[in-house]
Amino acid sequence: MTSKEIRQQFLDFFKEKGHKIVPSAPIVNKNDPTLMFTNAGMNQFKDFFLGNKVPDNRRITDTQKCLRVSGKHNDLEEVGVDSYHHTMFEMLGNWSVGDYFKEEAIAWAWELLTDVFKLDKDRLYVTVFSGDKQDGLEADEEAADFWKKWVPEDRILYFDRKDNFWEMGDVGPCGPCTEIHIDLRSEEERRKLSGKELVNQDDPLVVEIWNLVFIQFDRKSDGSLENLPEKHVDTGMGFERLCMAVQGKKSNYATDVFMPFINFVEKETGKKYTASYAPDAKKDIAMRVIVDHIRAVSMTIADGQMPGNTGAGYVVRRILRRAVRYYFSFLDKKEPFLYRLVPMLADSFKDVFPELYQQKDFVANVVKEEEKSFLRTLEGGLRRLASVETTDEVIDGKTAFELFDTFGFPIDLTRLIAEENGLKVDEDGFKKALQEQKDRSRSAATKKVGDWYEVGDAHKQTVEFIGYDTLEVKGTKVLKYRTVKTKKKVEYQVVIEKTPFYAESGGQVGDKGFLWFGEEKIRVLDTQKENDLIIHILEKLPDNPQAPVRGEVDAQKRRLTENNHSATHLMHAALRQVLGSHVQQKGSLVALDRLRFDYAHYAKMTDEEIAAVEKIVNQKIRENIPIEEARDLPVEEAKKAGAMMLFGEKYGETVRMITFDAEYSRELCGGCHVSATGNIGFFKIVSEAGISAGVRRIEAVTAAGAEAYINKELEELNMVRSQFKNSSDLPQKVAALIGENKKLRKEIDSLTAKQAGALKEDLKKQMTTINGVNFLATVVTVGDAKALKNLAYQLEKEVGNAFIVFGAEIQSKPQLMVIISKGVIEEKGLHAGNIVRELAKEIKGGGGGQPFFATAGGKDADGLASAVEKAKGFVG
Ligand code: SER
Repeated sequence: MTSKEIRQQFLDFFKEKGHKIVPSAPIVNKNDPTLMFTNAGMNQFKDFFLGNKVPDNRRITDTQKCLRVSGKHNDLEEVGVDSYHHTMFEMLGNWSVGDYFKEEAIAWAWELLTDVFKLDKDRLYVTVFSGDKQDGLEADEEAADFWKKWVPEDRILYFDRKDNFWEMGDVGPCGPCTEIHIDLRSEEERRKLSGKELVNQDDPLVVEIWNLVFIQFDRKSDGSLENLPEKHVDTGMGFERLCMAVQGKKSNYATDVFMPFINFVEKETGKKYTASYAPDAKKDIAMRVIVDHIRAVSMTIADGQMPGNTGAGYVVRRILRRAVRYYFSFLDKKEPFLYRLVPMLADSFKDVFPELYQQKDFVANVVKEEEKSFLRTLEGGLRRLASVETTDEVIDGKTAFELFDTFGFPIDLTRLIAEENGLKVDEDGFKKALQEQKDRSRSAATKKVGDWYEVGDAHKQTVEFIGYDTLEVKGTKVLKYRTVKTKKKVEYQVVIEKTPFYAESGGQVGDKGFLWFGEEKIRVLDTQKENDLIIHILEKLPDNPQAPVRGEVDAQKRRLTENNHSATHLMHAALRQVLGSHVQQKGSLVALDRLRFDYAHYAKMTDEEIAAVEKIVNQKIRENIPIEEARDLPVEEAKKAGAMMLFGEKYGETVRMITFDAEYSRELCGGCHVSATGNIGFFKIVSEAGISAGVRRIEAVTAAGAEAYINKELEELNMVRSQFKNSSDLPQKVAALIGENKKLRKEIDSLTAKQAGALKEDLKKQMTTINGVNFLATVVTVGDAKALKNLAYQLEKEVGNAFIVFGAEIQSKPQLMVIISKGVIEEKGLHAGNIVRELAKEIKGGGGGQPFFATAGGKDADGLASAVEKAKGFVG
């Protein structure tokens, strides 16, 4: 069976059992501050499990793109070294939301593995939860009993919380689980030692393939468990491992999911893959790292996460760099290379994850640019290593860590280069620094979310957003509130049942305004989203959370934001008309005072293109096109209607479609808009620039903001204009002026040079010889200190054996300069610094410098003549 068939069989099996097949959620998580990347199939259903929402079908199945490289589940360092861990992997899953429970989940898992996939029953083991004292939980005998129907008792093994209690993160839905493990060793090995002994022992051939979680609790941040209102099933099966088992391979990499890519790398590098897992089989490890990492990198970029220096972007960048390090060090590749795997990858995922296929050029380009810049950094690192100062022939741990962290040098590479130079590396010091950094990044990966205080029966209630139609609410109530403390700030958060406040999302900033709790009026500083909860961030918590709640959005701020949001849609459509339909939104900010729009495009926009976009948008504004809003439109219908959909956005069953002229702009959007485009007033682009490979950014303003912008520009222009008597043909006039200025500057430069030359010749003539020293002390007229210095240096060079003292008035301040040739210093024991200090007394000043050259400034220009006169005394 090919991997494609295996995936399809899984989905079809559960479809037949009444499950609805849904698409994978994006791998990048945008709406949950506790989680950067999707790390399990259940993430997108978290709210169903917590009871915040009810799905339209309680049985669901899918294959989910997952990434486990940050936070609670982190496998990065294992990847490539072993045969069964990955950065990005597909998790096949089936879910019951308060529907079937343990019995069916277990029976179906068994049926699918043994009847459909025909796995050898003798090779399968199951594990169940053995209970936990601290949490006050008993062993899961119920699950064990259901298993007894299918497997002999001695194949049912008990494990504790570490292996058989699944949690999404530090907080959130969780419960006991039962896992299915498979023994893929040879008959001979199996005779020697029963697979039973190797379950959960990290043996690469006795591995977990499927995890069935029975979600029953919500873990609170104080560590306690709270019962959920309903019980759920959450299963996850690693697709790549399943392929290994079904295809009878001994490594995930030996399946058709990875082999074609390994073959490509072999061909490209001229190196042979030997499928070795020995720790020193660096070439093989490198090939596995490459074919694994490019998947994670491509998928995250396709879902809208660009590599960057912080947060999720940094995670993507680190994965990409890990791959580059491996090919650079172990496959002798010094040129960008990963990006060439992108088209192949896009083809192989075309049917399941089309978002990559549709953006394959863009993704490849981003990867290539990242590779290029990191390869340059690597070279910098090599130079840094060459410059390291070593004590006792050891490169200290801090430097090794700097090389690792800043230049991306794996410790192997540092060690290798050190050895070549007869040095050692302080590995303990390195490990210590690394551990410290790991601790730091763990605490950065998950934001601590304080506990909610719930008012009444908050579990059952859902939040209703009414802010598309009104900016006020009356007679609603608090559902929950909490205080969230981070290192930087304290936030007071309140969720109410019905709200007109728009929570920041889709680039649009959150609303501000006021909430009243009874008589108490409290300012809303911001509105944020966490999954589907709308969270009002308040100046303080209400005294009485039970009081009836009234609210008012700051209407003026909201209207300005709406102008910018609708203008963003109009501009998006115009960009596609002017630049082409490859223009895809890659990010946006819709604020009160401006809009920012990032989009995929390869070249800088010309002035003509910018003008064309502005013209179209302003035309559409003047047409005063009324908004057409379709709420709760089935997503399929929206697609048919030609609505623009964004990659990496998670769309529900039904969507909201915003149209300004069916022929012109139609987007799926949850944001707030003007009722007709005329409200926007006027649109003006203020900047256009590249921000990263293949991504450009436009900033623009609308309405009063655009007016203010134009007025300011005009004011500046008028100031320029008023400098001319006759201001017609202003641009030509300015250009002529600049040209003339350039010409004059050139002339001045050449005149000054000539003058300086004449002055120098003149001064040479004034030179006298005293006791074998070429001596000159005089007051000269020059433009600036630099010219004076040049003059002194040149004279000294040309005549040699000299002692020269200049006095000059520069910008009406007296200055002295002394220069003495080396031979004179030695012979006569003179020191320019000491001399200038002495002479400076005459001009009421001070100074100093080297034996060869020194300067002084003063207050009394009248003293210049006597100062230079005094100089003679030093050689006479
Ligand atoms: N949530 C569980 C896991 O990720 C089962 O899907 O393993």
